Amino acid sequence: MPETSAPPEPILKKDMGRALISAERIAKRVEDMGREISEVYADIDTPLVLVVILKGATVFAADLLRSLSIPAELEFVSAASYGSGTSPGKLRLAHMVEGPLVGRHVLLIEDIIDSGRTVSAIAKRLRKLKPASLRLAALLDRPARREVETRIDFTGFVIPDRFVIGYGLDYAGLYRELPGIYTLT
Ligand code: IMP
Ligand code: MG
Repeated sequence: MPETSAPPEPILKKDMGRALISAERIAKRVEDMGREISEVYADIDTPLVLVVILKGATVFAADLLRSLSIPAELEFVSAASYGSGTSPGKLRLAHMVEGPLVGRHVLLIEDIIDSGRTVSAIAKRLRKLKPASLRLAALLDRPARREVETRIDFTGFVIPDRFVIGYGLDYAGLYRELPGIYTLT
C-alpha cells in the first residue's frame, strides 16, 4: 500500500475561538474598498478587469465584485511554485487570463501579501500584456516578511506576523469556508 501522510485533523468551526478579524469587520471593510475602487475608476471607458489570484482570493473577490458600483469583468490567474526548496522564488503560471488585456484597466486581487513574490511575478507577466493600468487590491498585508517591495493600492487590513486562515485562506487546503479570519495556534 502506498504511504500517505495523514491529512491535518480539521478544527471544527465551534472550536476556532475568537476571530482575528470578524466576518462583520471584513464585510464593512470590503464594502468601503469597493466604494473607494469605484471612485478611483469612475471615469474609465471600459469595464474594469478584476484578475483574481486562485485560490485564496476567490472569496474576497466575490464580495469585492458585488461592492463595486462600476462595470467589471472577472479573470483568473493561478501561480504555482516549482523547483527545489533552494529556489523558492520560482513561480510558474498554471493558469493565465483568457481575454486580451491590451489597453484595459486591470486590478489584481490577492488574499494576502506576504513575501510579495507571488504578486510581483504575476504583475510582471500581466504587464507584458500591455494593460492601460495595473493596480493591486489585497485583503491582507503582512509586511513583517516582505522580500520584494510591493505597492498595494487598496489594502483591507494590515496584520501581525501570524499564519491566518479563513475567508478563502487555507492551511493544507482546509478552512477556506470560515467566515472570519483566524490565526492558527
Ligand atoms: P507571497 O508570495 O509570499 O507574498 O505569498 C502570498 C501567497 O501565499 C498568498 O497567495 C497565499 O496563498 C499564501 N499565504 C501566505 N501567507 C498565508 C497565510 O497566512 N495563510 C494562508 N495563505 C497564506
Ligand atoms: Mg494565494
